[in-house]
Formats: sequence, C-alpha cells, structure tokens
Amino acid sequence: HRTYDFVIAANRLPVDRQVKPDGTTTWRTSPGGLVTAMESVMRDREAAWVGWAGFPGEAPQPFDDGHLRLVPVGLSAEELTDYYEGFSNGTLWPLYHDVIVPPTFHRSWWNVYRTVNQRFADHVARVAAEGATVWVHDYQLQLVPAMLRDQRPDLRIGWFNHIPFPPVELFAQLPWRARILRGLLGADFVGFQRPDDARNFIRSCRAVLGATHKGDVVTWGGSDDGRSGAAPRSVRAAAVPISIDAQGFRDLADSPSVKARAQEIRESLGEPEVVLLGVDRLDYTKGIRHRLRAIGELLADGEISPPEVTFVQVATPSRERVEAYRTLREQIEGTVGRINGDFSHLGDTAVHYLHQSYPREEMAALFQVADVMLVTPLRDGMNLVAKEYVTARHDGGGALVLSEFTGAAEELKTAYLCNPHDIAGLKETILRAIRDDHEEKRRRMRSLRRQVRTYDVQVWAQDFLRALEVAPHRPPRSR
Ligand code: G6P
Repeated sequence: HRTYDFVIAANRLPVDRQVKPDGTTTWRTSPGGLVTAMESVMRDREAAWVGWAGFPGEAPQPFDDGHLRLVPVGLSAEELTDYYEGFSNGTLWPLYHDVIVPPTFHRSWWNVYRTVNQRFADHVARVAAEGATVWVHDYQLQLVPAMLRDQRPDLRIGWFNHIPFPPVELFAQLPWRARILRGLLGADFVGFQRPDDARNFIRSCRAVLGATHKGDVVTWGGSDDGRSGAAPRSVRAAAVPISIDAQGFRDLADSPSVKARAQEIRESLGEPEVVLLGVDRLDYTKGIRHRLRAIGELLADGEISPPEVTFVQVATPSRERVEAYRTLREQIEGTVGRINGDFSHLGDTAVHYLHQSYPREEMAALFQVADVMLVTPLRDGMNLVAKEYVTARHDGGGALVLSEFTGAAEELKTAYLCNPHDIAGLKETILRAIRDDHEEKRRRMRSLRRQVRTYDVQVWAQDFLRALEVAPHRPPRSR
C-alpha cells in the first residue's frame, strides 16, 4: 500500500459523512477550523489524514479526497463513550480549562483512551513513509507521539495543543499525569497557543517527571518511574498561536450573497440601532452564562432595551451526551426564557437564542450585522470566532469585547478586554463598546484586523512545521 511523507492525526477527519434519505452516503467537508487551517499546508503535497469518521462502528475503507488520503479510524459506541465523551471531554477538557466544572477520573475511561490512542498510532505507523513528518493534534491524542516513536523512531513527530495546558497545580490532580507527559515527550516539538501554556507544560515535566530544562527545551532521562533503559530525549515546547485563513474569510464576507444575507438579517431583526452578538459552541468554557447575566442586568438597569438594542446568541450544539453540557443547556435556556419574559415586547425580542449550527456563509453575514461582538470565555485555548469577526469587518465597523482568558487576547490587544467573572466590569465594557465614538472603534478594529491578516493560518502552519523541522535546537519565530 501507499505511504505518505506527511501525515496528520486528529480526533476527527476533515470530512463528515452525510446519509441521504435513500440511504446512500457522501462525504462533506466538515466546517471545523482545522480543515481550512491544514489546507494551506497540504496544498502542495501528498498527505494522509488519520481520524475518526464521526460515527460509531467499523471504519470505512481509506479513500482519496483530492490529493488527500483519508484514513478513518473505527471506534465502537463503547469506545466513544469512554475515550471521547469520557476521558477526552469528561476528564481532560475540564481539567485543562481551569476545572470550570469538576473533572471526573475513571480508570476504565483511561484504559480505553490508551487503547484508542494506540489504534491511532498504529494507523499512522502504517501510512507514514520512511522519515515522514507526522503532525498530531490536540488533547484527545496525547499518547500518540510516544506510541508512534516506539514503533517508528525514524519519524519526525510534532504535537499541537489547541486548548490550554493547565498549571501544574491542576495538572498534578490527574492520576495518569506521568503517562500523559511521557506520551507527549515522544514528539520532537510540542506547540501551544500561548507562552504560558508552554511554560505550564515545562513545569509539569519538571515537577512530575523530574525532567530538566534549558530555555524551552525539556530533557528527560526516561527513568522517572525507576525503569531505566529508555534513551534520554530532548523536546522543544513553545507557543505557535493558531489563526484563520484571513484572506479566504475576508473574500467570503465580501461576496455579494453574504452581503445580501447580512442586509436580510438586519431587516428581520427590525433594523435595531445596536446588535450584540455571541457565537459559541454550547460549552461551559465559553462564559455564556456570565454574558447573559450581564445582558440581563443591563436590561434591568434600563441601560439597553429592545427594539433599539438586541442580543443574538448562537449556541452550536456540542457533546450533548456529556452530563455537564446538558445541565448547561438547561441553565442557559432557562435564563434566556426569563430574560425574554421580563424584557421582550410583542415584536421586540431582547435575546434571540439559536441552538443550531450554521454554515460559514451565515456566520460571515451575522458578523457583519454585529455592532458589538461578545467573546467572553472563562478559559479558551485561542478562540477563532474573535479572529473571524475582526476579519469579516474590514468595512471598519464593529467592536470586539474579548475575555482576557482567551489565547486570542494575547494577540488582539486593542479589543475591549474584559474579565467575564466581574459582572459589573463586563457590563461597563459592553456599554463602552456600544457608546465609544466611531473613530475610537475604527482605530481599535484596524489594528485587530492587521494583526490577524499578518499572522494568518498559513503563517501558523509554516511556523509550526519550521519549528518541527529544526527541533529541538532552534526556537520558532517569535511574534
Ligand atoms: C475544540 C477542540 C477540538 C474539537 C472542537 C469541537 O476546538 O480543540 O479538538 O474538535 O473543540 O469539539 P468536538 O468534540 O465536537 O470535536
């Protein structure tokens, strides 16, 4: 069979299977950011992408999509419960996001996480050519680098964490902390969103494994658990913040159909003076409840009211079989109902709440309607919605309220930064973003747009791959 010089491993494949009414199936590019991000990297090379096909059961045969080879990994319904909903999203996700909800530690989840990571590693090992470059993505696959190196020491292996890496005080709670770190240290280069994430990782390696470090290179003897014999490894850890396809998104936002759709949305909202917008996966990390709290109080204070000011919240369904997500949905929908009951009038809705997922075109149109974009996560690795919003507003309009606890805040310094836990502060920031004069807002947006245009996704991918090529001895370009 064919092998490839460049292999990507991610929990999901870049395509979703669509089952038509007549029972036949087709594949559609999934809307996720990673697909567009990797497109620029894969354009000029033959590459394979190893990932879960998006539904339980036996994996379909590998197939080609353009010059990309798609290699589906099969996961049974039980494995999905334990590896995906369980260990990935019931243990790691909350632990890595500041324990906003308590993580659950189950030995059975851990065991299945190992089994599934091994399966991903085996698939990659089969399709990777001699000396190939392998790029592993995210927290679902942290054991893959070492599992892969065991079988294939010839490979150059990089891992990128799309989410935060927690401070050692939190990471140390994990019963399998040493195993996770050893898994990651199988890579040559590990990339993070923020310098703080890279530092947290390095500190954890020191505290948990007794590794040493010099600058951002971690060296570990391989014998922390008393078993010796493993060769010492040096791995570089550094920040390479992800971005969006700025030109592509700008072109999309500029297209006549998106412009027309934006006008249509504005009209259907009743041409309010100010549209506030939130767009998130329905996730407890996103600070949707805090945002609603602030909006509810602003309405109660009489500072804002419909029809002049209206708030649109898109909450994309996510991980609906995980308990914490179900509870959150109930809370949010209860709050939206109460706010609308108290402050809407016939024909004038205070909060438009949409529990749906939309195509990129609709998002681009919505961004153009939003006078103030509210991005208020309690913790977020990056937040690409913030970057998409500023890119869509190259008309110079709009204002971005952005939580300090996002990776994006490290780069988007002229946003209206806020601490979403501070409801009084958040209310003031929202009002300032509404009321500041035109020139001030344009000045802020201009510099945000420039930042995203300069550090777009192509730069991200190039920086990551360059860092991987020269790892562990040379740092990536700093920003
Ligand atoms: C975050 C993670 C991704 C994940 C995405 C959607 O952005 O970093 O790895 O794919 O959320 O979540 P889901 O569980 O639906 O894949």
